[in-house]
Amino acid sequence: MPVLWETAYPKSPVFYRRLKRVYPRIVRGEGVWLTDSDGRRYLDGCSGAYVSNLGHGVSEIADAVADQAKRFSYVNATAFTHDAAEELAEELARICPKPLDKSFFLCSGTDVVEAAFKLSRQHFAETGRPKKTRVLSLAPGYHGNTILSLSASSRPPYKTMFDGWLIDFPSVQAPYPYRFAKDHPSMTGELLEDAILREGPETIAAFIAEPVGGSSTGASIPRPGYWKKVRALCDKYEIFWIADEVLTGIGRTGTWSALEPYGAVPDMLLFGKGLTGGYTALSALVTNEDVLRPIALGSGALLHNATFSHSAVGCAAGIASIRYLREKKLVERSAEMGSVLHKKLEALLDRPEVGDVRGRGLLAGIEFVENKETKEPFARDLRFAENFADAALAAGLVVWPATGGADGINGDFAMLAPPFIITEDEINEIVKKFTLALDTMTAEAK
Ligand SMILES: Cc1ncc(COP(=O)(O)O)c(C=O)c1O
Repeated sequence: MPVLWETAYPKSPVFYRRLKRVYPRIVRGEGVWLTDSDGRRYLDGCSGAYVSNLGHGVSEIADAVADQAKRFSYVNATAFTHDAAEELAEELARICPKPLDKSFFLCSGTDVVEAAFKLSRQHFAETGRPKKTRVLSLAPGYHGNTILSLSASSRPPYKTMFDGWLIDFPSVQAPYPYRFAKDHPSMTGELLEDAILREGPETIAAFIAEPVGGSSTGASIPRPGYWKKVRALCDKYEIFWIADEVLTGIGRTGTWSALEPYGAVPDMLLFGKGLTGGYTALSALVTNEDVLRPIALGSGALLHNATFSHSAVGCAAGIASIRYLREKKLVERSAEMGSVLHKKLEALLDRPEVGDVRGRGLLAGIEFVENKETKEPFARDLRFAENFADAALAAGLVVWPATGGADGINGDFAMLAPPFIITEDEINEIVKKFTLALDTMTAEAK
């Protein structure tokens, strides 16, 4: 591949996320397009890391952030509340299913995951069940990179280095329709009940899962009855159900929450990434009065504080984003343009290396396999997903490479999740560039 970019370690003082790569330097964003310092344009096919749902350069959101910063930028959330937090919590209560109407604001996805774990444990401790401390999760699954969230994430490559620091939380196979039949126990919830009974419900505080798979299972969609079954099991064994919608929430799958079509309500719903469309860093834990009451009547505070919790500037961006999405009907547009995207991506199924194309709304996972008959993944040392993402970038398309779907380590995906304002022409452009990138890889392999 030709060398197109020059910004790299150690020439630059930046400690990059990848020290062996050369980076294009982005200077401008407009709609679904990014432009680098050499004037090259990239179609932002995954909204960055599933974040820029509104598109780049929306002045309404930038103005709301600036207005708040001019009025006051920051206050200590232990001492004060403010209009921005109060109004954003009201907006989220409108979006979330009843009775979820109490929002705690932090900065990142992993922050709210850790807060939800602590809230679960603290609730049980303050109601006389201090042995309920563990968190059950799905595998593969990803909930963040700080110690507690990583402990509940089944992504071995992120964990191995930190053996001894992580907590040994149990997990069960995630529903994965491409690889398991519909009556497989992972698809029906049976495996989950077995795990609860095996581990002992008296030790489990919470079950956490992504309602529709993110990067871990490449936009896999659990079957219609799955989440109602989860609700029933969590009720039966008195376990809090935490729905991690950090990636899927706020319209990504064509509904405000990916759980909406399932008609099942969790005890905690977590948002991040798209909550402000990337205009500030903000996440939210939304829960209900029953979860909070024992703490309100007991110790009086969740033991999870952060300097930037309930940030005024962050919340102002959240309010502006949600109102913008509502006024422009962009969640509906995510559903409509999602159907267009999925229809056009079907053409990729004719290719020998594409095993499956799936997803909902403007979230799509394309699973690459070595053998379409047996669904055998590519050998991990080929780094198919990562090499594909590089080829796509050279073709002017940003995708999110993901791995580990097949068994935690092997399994390659390219994820697509463009901004909700994408047009049909731009979707055609995605498919064209995607195909070009696959052609380049095939040509280079020969
Ligand atoms: C489902 C899910 N939960 C949590 C996180 C962690 O979010 P953050 O990177 O903002 O900490 C991610 C990030 O990719 C995610 O996809």
